[in-house]
Amino acid sequence: MDNSMKDQIRQKADRIESILSSFLPEETGYQKPVISAMNYTMNAGGKRLRPMLMEETYLMFGGTDRDMIEPFMAAIEMIHTYSLIHDDLPALDNDDYRRGRKTAHIVYGEAMAILAGDGLLNYAFETASKAFRGDSRDSVIGRAFQVLAAKPGIYGMIGGQTADVADEDKDITLDELMFIHKNKTSALIECSMMIGAILAGADQESIRTMEEIAEKIGLAFQIRDDILDITGSQEELGKPVGSDEKNNKNTYVSIKGLDRATEDVLRYTREAIDLFDTLPCKNAYLRRLLLYLSGRDN
Ligand code: IPE
Ligand code: IPE
Ligand code: MG
Ligand code: MG
Ligand code: MG
Repeated sequence: MDNSMKDQIRQKADRIESILSSFLPEETGYQKPVISAMNYTMNAGGKRLRPMLMEETYLMFGGTDRDMIEPFMAAIEMIHTYSLIHDDLPALDNDDYRRGRKTAHIVYGEAMAILAGDGLLNYAFETASKAFRGDSRDSVIGRAFQVLAAKPGIYGMIGGQTADVADEDKDITLDELMFIHKNKTSALIECSMMIGAILAGADQESIRTMEEIAEKIGLAFQIRDDILDITGSQEELGKPVGSDEKNNKNTYVSIKGLDRATEDVLRYTREAIDLFDTLPCKNAYLRRLLLYLSGRDN
């Protein structure tokens, strides 16, 4: 794989890390146990893909105001991180490693991991609310807030996680699997790219196109995740392989097989890029990033 692209992604992710750090709560007071568990998983690394997609979309549509975008970048990573802490809990996927470290529930116990997820979800909104200024920009910030509230919810990520867990040990159709993947994974990617476009003042049609692009990128991303759960390594992924089989999950690979899954990652990515190329503005790095994700190995 293209090393210069890997380096560029790493540099962008490093910058995002410093933005995230500036929004994390201090580990003091009687709340310290929960804040430590929140920061432990936030600071564990991760690709920082969602804030990256948000920022690059914002830049593409001409956004320039750091005080507007950065609170939302931190907020989406907090929501994503909460979803991972809860996804790994014994009652869900029961996984012991995440982002190259023991999971939060192993280090801090289950109660603190549950509370850390709750804490991050709530703190995400507290953080995003820092973008409000009491001037004319507040209406787009309000619209972005609505998307930040809806996409991770029951008609988005939580809805997908619900079906993912409820359908363990069952035979489901491809339609049902598509529901799971679009919701558990595409929803947060849609959230990221839509917020970037909304905050930059993009028109309605472009926001809708970003949602469609993100849905396809999310599908490709989750199919690739399902593939890597079989063909990847814990060392590279920072999380256990074989988790899906252990839990009797329905995945794109269990339903369509490895070859078809590999083809469909490329097909959804290609469809996303074709749509991307119809947009009125360009971001060459973002376009390369979307293509790169289809062959990612972590
Ligand atoms: C993991 O997301 C959960 C899925 C939706 C597959 P990432 O692969 O983006 O995880 P991090 O943020 O890099 O740890
Ligand atoms: C989870 O999908 C997506 C989330 C909403 C967290 P997976 O359960 O496949 O994600 P990993 O493989 O544990 O990261
Ligand atoms: Mg899961
Ligand atoms: Mg999991
Ligand atoms: Mg997985």
